[in-house]
Amino acid sequence: MSELEGKVCLVTGATDGHGRAVARCLARLGADVVVHGRNPEKCDAVQREIAAINGGKRPDALLCDLASRASIDAAASEYLASARPLDILVNNAGLVSLHRQESADGFELVLAVNFFAMFQLTMRLWPRLQASPAARVINVASDAYRVAKFDLDDLALESYSVAKSYSRSKLAVVYFTLELARRTAGQGISVNAVDPGPVASNIAANNPGFLYSLARPMIKYLFPSAERAARTAVMVATEPDVAAVSGGYFRSMKQRKKPLEFDPAFGERLWQIASDATGTQL
Ligand SMILES: NC(=O)c1ccc[n+]([C@@H]2O[C@H](COP(=O)([O-])OP(=O)(O)OC[C@H]3O[C@@H](n4cnc5c(N)ncnc54)[C@H](OP(=O)(O)O)[C@@H]3O)[C@@H](O)[C@H]2O)c1
Repeated sequence: MSELEGKVCLVTGATDGHGRAVARCLARLGADVVVHGRNPEKCDAVQREIAAINGGKRPDALLCDLASRASIDAAASEYLASARPLDILVNNAGLVSLHRQESADGFELVLAVNFFAMFQLTMRLWPRLQASPAARVINVASDAYRVAKFDLDDLALESYSVAKSYSRSKLAVVYFTLELARRTAGQGISVNAVDPGPVASNIAANNPGFLYSLARPMIKYLFPSAERAARTAVMVATEPDVAAVSGGYFRSMKQRKKPLEFDPAFGERLWQIASDATGTQL
């Protein structure tokens, strides 16, 4: 029997880069993968790839735009309405944006997609995770969180920079992971964050122009392949030794002892902000 036989894994942002590689690896290990994407053609391409791995069995897709609270809500309702279990949730989708943009709900886009969407989807799917005997949630972060300065009174980030928006969104992911693990300790669900390290992916391709034309060759040809980068998330999703770890941060196949000096007041306030922004809670 394959390692993940009978396990259902939902991977967000499975249509490209790291998420696509994670989805394919999990399928190779025997999982029943549900491919999340926002673009039906890109979903179809990954569904075909996974069907080829699965001996022809086409995986399900879950379509939604993570920049829209209503779209996430509809997708979560669709998932819950199906009888499908959920054993592993990989919250991978994310972006960087050179210029300030807003989500459908008027939030700064990078924070909305990289963090609020992850919060909303996880909250909505939590009851289904609880029904699994040993569910795991893997939140894709980035070491960029280490340079973040996140002013919770300035969510709009009008004095925008790509570094400020991306790093604060990933700090939020790390805080969310630690806070969710703390709040749900003893429920039998592990919640961990993973930094895949640099990935040869299409990240930043949504920013065409001179800067991306300079960065693209480095991202595409110098960064490790998505398959290689996916190993840490796959390890955290599958290794029996990691099952007992919750609230961990993993990079390069290793757990970082202390990712940050956790500020409980910041964690509490960030949670409340995300709960209000998404209309969800545990
Ligand atoms: N690349 C790196 O060096 C690096 C380093 C550290 C961490 N990470 C993290 O790794 C994760 C994956 O990034 P990647 O490098 O694989 O980038 P990528 O190739 O651009 O893939 C990003 C995925 O997220 C999806 N996505 C973006 N915005 C979305 C939205 N509004 N609604 C639904 N789906 C959306 C994309 O969908 P489409 O296919 O439709 O665009 C794609 O499937 C991100 O969380 C990123 O922050 C990346």
